[in-house]
Amino acid sequence: MAAGRLLLIPDGPASLLYATELVNQLRRRGYSLQVAPTAYDGPSATAFVSELAWATLSGHPCRAIESLDEAAFREQDLILLGPVSPRVFSIFCQGKALSYLQAAGRPVLAILPQLFPDEPLPHKEGGSFAQLMPPGSRLLTGSVPHGLGALGNLLLPSFEEVLAQVDSLLAPQDYAGKKVLITAGPTAEDLDPVRFLTNRSTGKMGFALARDAALRGAQVLLVHGPVALPAPRLPRLTPLPVRSATQMHQAVMDHWQEQDLAILAAAVADFQPLHCAETKIKKGEAQELSLPLKRTPDILATLGALPHRPFLVGFAAESDDVEANAQLKLRKKHCDLICANDVRKPGCGFATDTNQVTILAPDAPPLHLPLKSKEEVAHSILSEILRRL
Ligand code: C5P
Repeated sequence: MAAGRLLLIPDGPASLLYATELVNQLRRRGYSLQVAPTAYDGPSATAFVSELAWATLSGHPCRAIESLDEAAFREQDLILLGPVSPRVFSIFCQGKALSYLQAAGRPVLAILPQLFPDEPLPHKEGGSFAQLMPPGSRLLTGSVPHGLGALGNLLLPSFEEVLAQVDSLLAPQDYAGKKVLITAGPTAEDLDPVRFLTNRSTGKMGFALARDAALRGAQVLLVHGPVALPAPRLPRLTPLPVRSATQMHQAVMDHWQEQDLAILAAAVADFQPLHCAETKIKKGEAQELSLPLKRTPDILATLGALPHRPFLVGFAAESDDVEANAQLKLRKKHCDLICANDVRKPGCGFATDTNQVTILAPDAPPLHLPLKSKEEVAHSILSEILRRL
């Protein structure tokens, strides 16, 4: 769960269908939220959504916008200004609120709907957004059409984009300057142009690791097999899609030398067809079919055997003797850490949103993490790695 105190200052008709949903999504993520809706004679936030509704949604009494002073801003970790029309934003930038914001020094994330593509960004006495707002502030303009009933569509950022910006503004930057390679998802081993061998991995755990590392400041290369989940779209995160174990091996071999850390969370196929047929294999009259398979390259073991390799973390999905088997893997593949999980436990393993992981190191007692969301597990694993990097 993300943590932090946010103050949302919504305005105008976008309050109704956009800002209210943003409140829901931010709260679901774990943020504590207060709302200070605009209230003026016209299409203000309170004209569209009552104070009682804002208080109910956010779980906190509304703040009166005119009562916001330096102390009120200082109580927050982040000020979310928007969606706000460029006109109201300009007024905000010229009022007392701006000097209070500057004095409090908390970052501002301003969300401006893109109404007229040619409209200049609001400014005061020639000052740009970056010059006007406290350090670290960011401006997001719209790119996705959001339907506002009879008002038609308004171009606003996607909720995913806003949440990613909030997360990155509030995340500790403890991975700044680090280069991290992560493998994720299954691999697909082609039998012929139509069929392939694969497994149940969805990529969720590896993607959560990549997202958390990028939010914490790392430069992330995410090498992933074919998955339904879209790769996280974040600054500093480069997805590198591959298909087979051989391609994943090649991608890792091409890039390991630049990395400080490699976390191999992919469920790589252990075997691939000896030959991939050029044309579709016909069933004919056969009642049985045997497919000759050969071993795939073991990427983790290959990296583990290199003399100047990055800090190396493996995963071990086990169904019996979890710790003993993972310990064996840790030593055999020469990893620095291995994250073991029991795929038979409820809420663990493939296609779940949660996981329960035990972190094993050659020189320390096992660390049992509780059953948590994959995002939280990813955060704990990265914190544990950082202690040892
Ligand atoms: O031996 P096992 O497949 O259980 O090992 C799991 C660990 O090894 C995971 O970190 C996985 O990503 C990695 N692995 C690999 N290449 C393989 C097989 C597994 O990198 N061919």
